[in-house]
Amino acid sequence: MRVAFVGKGGAGKSALAGTLARVLARTGEPVLVIDSDPMPGLALSLGFPATDAGIPDDATVERADGEDGPRYRLRPGLSAAKAIELYAVAGPDDVRLLQFGKLREHVGSLMRSQHAFHQIREELPVDRWHLVGDLPGGTRQPFFGWAQFATVVLVVVEPSEKGMLSARRLARLGDDEDGPAQILAVVNKSRHRDDAARVEAGTGLRVAVTVPWDEALADAERRGLAPIDAAPDSAAVGAVACLVTQLQAGAQP
Ligand SMILES: Nc1ncnc2c1ncn2[C@@H]1O[C@H](COP(=O)(O)OP(=O)(O)O)[C@@H](O)[C@H]1O
Ligand SMILES: [Mg+2]
Repeated sequence: MRVAFVGKGGAGKSALAGTLARVLARTGEPVLVIDSDPMPGLALSLGFPATDAGIPDDATVERADGEDGPRYRLRPGLSAAKAIELYAVAGPDDVRLLQFGKLREHVGSLMRSQHAFHQIREELPVDRWHLVGDLPGGTRQPFFGWAQFATVVLVVVEPSEKGMLSARRLARLGDDEDGPAQILAVVNKSRHRDDAARVEAGTGLRVAVTVPWDEALADAERRGLAPIDAAPDSAAVGAVACLVTQLQAGAQP
């Protein structure tokens, strides 16, 4: 499967993406997680030690004067598949994590890795891994093609009016010619029975799964642990497991 998580900041993208990747990896399938958030955090949701390992500058070369194309490209001989082998880090359940790079100073410091990351995303052999993308909050990356590798885009929505305002914007990704084959909502932090119906009515998106508000998840976060390690039997992890089953079946929920 090729899925990307989008949504408002704090909606739960990283917690759910990290959990989904681990659940899927435990079925014995190869999973590559693509982290394009310049802020750190996903590694912890995956149960990796916090790592800033991104794509080093020497993975790229600068365009020569008079040449066409992007300013930086992967250095000659370095294919997308090889770059993943070199720069994606391995963690629990053998999940691989490719990070675009974490912001430490001016955003310009990520320029080379940003180009490399784009090229890798465009050229990676899609049948080799299941791909799980975790995008930063908001609309910018999704509408600039950062989720284009995904056939299914999951919009994580908190069932509040504010949450739905953001989700409605993101739902328009589905109108895009180059948009995903499927765009679905994942209701997160649900506390009321009618949340899924409200989100469907409020966003026009079909709800794939409703993840309850789960104190065990919040507690895992406080401790800096992956939900699947700290609370494997929690309701929230169970809901993510249901989502995996649905996506695997390509089922229309
Ligand atoms: N179902 C849930 N129940 C309780 N807390 C949750 C749930 N999902 C996410 N959280 C908490 O919400 C916060 C934001 O989650 P995070 O995954 O970092 O959001 P995002 O990546 O969308 O910005 C974290 O503290 C996380 O533990
Ligand atoms: Mg996040």
